[in-house]
Amino acid sequence: MIKSLRNQLVFALCVLVSIVGVVQGVSSYQLSKAGMSALLDLRLEQVAGRMRGGFADSLPAIPARGSQPEGDIVITIWKDDQVTPYRSTEPTLALPREAPAGFATRAVSGEEWRIYTLREPSMAIQVAQRSAVRHELAEERAVKTLWPMIVLVPLVWIAVLLVVRRSLRKLNRLGAQVQGIDVSHFQQLSTSGVPIEIRPFIDSINLMIERLAQSIESERKFISDAAHELRTPLTALQLQADNLQPHIAPGNQERFRELRSGITRSGGLIAQLLRLARADAVLQTDTLERVDVPAVVVNAVAEVLPIAMKRGIDIGADEMASAFVRAVEADVGIAVRNLVSNAIRYTPDDGKVDLSVQIRDGMVWIDVTDTGPGIAEELLPRVFDRFFRANTQIEGSGLGLSIVKAIASKYGGVASLRNRHDGRSGIVASIGFPSGS
Ligand SMILES: Nc1ncnc2c1ncn2[C@@H]1O[C@H](COP(=O)(O)OP(=O)(O)OP(=O)(O)O)[C@@H](O)[C@H]1O
Ligand SMILES: [Mg+2]
Repeated sequence: MIKSLRNQLVFALCVLVSIVGVVQGVSSYQLSKAGMSALLDLRLEQVAGRMRGGFADSLPAIPARGSQPEGDIVITIWKDDQVTPYRSTEPTLALPREAPAGFATRAVSGEEWRIYTLREPSMAIQVAQRSAVRHELAEERAVKTLWPMIVLVPLVWIAVLLVVRRSLRKLNRLGAQVQGIDVSHFQQLSTSGVPIEIRPFIDSINLMIERLAQSIESERKFISDAAHELRTPLTALQLQADNLQPHIAPGNQERFRELRSGITRSGGLIAQLLRLARADAVLQTDTLERVDVPAVVVNAVAEVLPIAMKRGIDIGADEMASAFVRAVEADVGIAVRNLVSNAIRYTPDDGKVDLSVQIRDGMVWIDVTDTGPGIAEELLPRVFDRFFRANTQIEGSGLGLSIVKAIASKYGGVASLRNRHDGRSGIVASIGFPSGS
């Protein structure tokens, strides 16, 4: 089960509110019933008291039969030596004269009665009421006391849900911010409006972000410095090799060519390392410009045109929407050149490479489609990893696509690579930037 702080809080608070509601309801129900019963007893007692004060004689000697409503109280007055009551509001009801003084509950004529007996030297006064009527009255009152709880508890549930959701909304926002953090976006989390209980947590995350940014920056700087340092001796090596070439004996020419191609490969690797370090650098917003994407694509095509023609590869642009992005032009150029260079490099002679610029879902997409061998599906998820090479037969440093990905995420874009789905073999390599106009 997914643990959700919000659900746990809402559940716990609602259960607590319900328990309080039930306890409160039960106790007010019981108290109200007991109170009502005491009130009815008091009434019996008061009526009996009135009878003692001479009111007894005002009762009709022979009341009309069944004239009394069911819920009313029955009064019976006994004179000391008489066997039948002196007065009774319900002569058919034989109240037990011998009942003890005070309150008693007795069954009379098959019904339960609450009887109050007041004994005087010359007479006994009994005032009685049906227990069923009393229960009904008490019950009616007690149920009425439950209504506020029945209405309030669900309202408090809703209030709990709203309050908890509102309080945790800030956490959700912070979660979204944390999700947005990646190598090229190390933004500190904002602490404004954050509850003080969560502040230490945010401070720790911010500290961690700062340390992470520092360590990534120092790693990037190391790569960049190392590549720079290596470039000078490698250039010197290249020069030495150029100077040496005329003096190499014809039998050693083949080995010498290998040595030179090794130097060239190392130069390529260093150049890619420098590009990667540059792509990983934190974005300086003041350096952003409005980049004309189709123009960048045309330049990249022009650069590879001689090689493409030499190998009989038909390279062209099929759809060139007018599109602009806010970026550093050199970054967009490097990304496009890496994709085009892959397409040319991995497509066999006489193949075809198509480029397109399209605007889809508010993004500017540059797609490079080739007629090469494609990539085994299981290797696709790894092609953006640094130094990963799916095809070791053809030379390369394995950094090109990592550079493309670093540039894409630096500008909030996406890089993707998939095999063609139109029945032909080949790759569709794409990079998308948020549209800048
Ligand atoms: N268009 C493509 N067709 C077939 N395979 C490709 C294509 N593009 C990339 N790949 C595969 O993905 C791997 C990674 O590509 P990436 O551009 O990162 O490195 P690279 O081309 O080997 O070296 P670099 O571009 O740094 O010189 C390549 O080695 C290649 O196997
Ligand atoms: Mg490449």
